[in-house]
Amino acid sequence: MASKKLIVVIGATGNQGGSVVDAFHTDPSWKIRALTRNPSSAKATALAARDVEVVKADMDDPSSLPAAFKDANAIFVVSDFWGLYGSFAQQGVDTGGKPLNLFAGEHELQQLKAAIDAAAKVPTLERFILSTLSAATKWSKGKYTHVYHFDIKAQASAYVKEAQPELWTKTSLFQPGFFLSGYVLNPNLRPRKNADGVAQFFNTMRGDFKTPWLAPEEDSGAFVKALIVDEAPGKNLIAYREWATLREMVQAFEKASGVKSEVVEVPVDAPNEHLPLELKIELDEGYSYWEEFGYEARDDPTVIHPKDLKHPPKLETMEQFYRKQDFSKIFGA
Ligand SMILES: NC(=O)c1ccc[n+]([C@@H]2O[C@H](COP(=O)([O-])OP(=O)(O)OC[C@H]3O[C@@H](n4cnc5c(N)ncnc54)[C@H](OP(=O)(O)O)[C@@H]3O)[C@@H](O)[C@H]2O)c1
Repeated sequence: MASKKLIVVIGATGNQGGSVVDAFHTDPSWKIRALTRNPSSAKATALAARDVEVVKADMDDPSSLPAAFKDANAIFVVSDFWGLYGSFAQQGVDTGGKPLNLFAGEHELQQLKAAIDAAAKVPTLERFILSTLSAATKWSKGKYTHVYHFDIKAQASAYVKEAQPELWTKTSLFQPGFFLSGYVLNPNLRPRKNADGVAQFFNTMRGDFKTPWLAPEEDSGAFVKALIVDEAPGKNLIAYREWATLREMVQAFEKASGVKSEVVEVPVDAPNEHLPLELKIELDEGYSYWEEFGYEARDDPTVIHPKDLKHPPKLETMEQFYRKQDFSKIFGA
């Protein structure tokens, strides 16, 4: 029997990377190396219990990456903008006067460059998959310049092309759609019941605007595996299970939960005392960018959609995703 190929996964204990592990775990022609900063965490030990090789590595410590990437045929890399932002906020880190989101983004870019430079030195590598998002400043022609969680990831993709041209020939980009789980886990997005018991989804995104929706913990792996196994490199995939309006997403939530639900459109310039100002600007500009220029950058001719794949994955619906959720937690029973 031919020897197994090796996929190395950064973020294997998280949503996207965990789904990539799941997708390759059932394929006997692949073995998996899951990278984590903490091999003794519950999620890492759960991976080890499934016979996944777990290796300690940290994008903040570039010297840990060569051994972690050794012999890889494929590498998947994801970065965690919101995790960085949250931990810097908690530490009260000195940003030298920079807005915290820009500071977090610059750190995220440093991490991604470390992973890219290390991947470029792996002689066995055939495919590099970078989890990324579209370049808001570029595609909005300079109109929206504060969507750092998009722009920074796009700068990392551009870095592969410019600084590591050989790695670029092995690279495909994976753009995850908007996470359905945000409306379950994120206190700023979660619906709130009004006095009549109606679940209200407050959002600066218009209710009738269509956007790509993804369950990253369930869907990412099927897309990433398709990019690695079925497709030539050079793809830029916007990955989603449904392309739907916010209102359609809320209808799916209503059907799944049995709770009457509605969208409450919040004007972009309305104050929001729950968010630090820099974050409000980033999110408001983000939603405006999506509407005017597309979440995936609709003018970018390189973008492909799931239907363009040789074997588009068969995914569940938004309603099926919400049927699995614990609504008592969402509504704080
Ligand atoms: N919310 C949305 O709708 C949306 C949509 C598209 C894209 N995104 C992007 O998705 C990203 C988060 O992805 P996710 O939800 O899959 O992640 P996640 O579940 O939050 O997990 C983060 C993963 O990154 C790993 N990690 C963090 N810092 C690391 C480091 N320094 N070195 C190595 N590994 C590190 C963690 O591993 P250990 O803790 O085990 O080390 C963990 O597995 C964010 O950047 C966000 O901008 C979000």
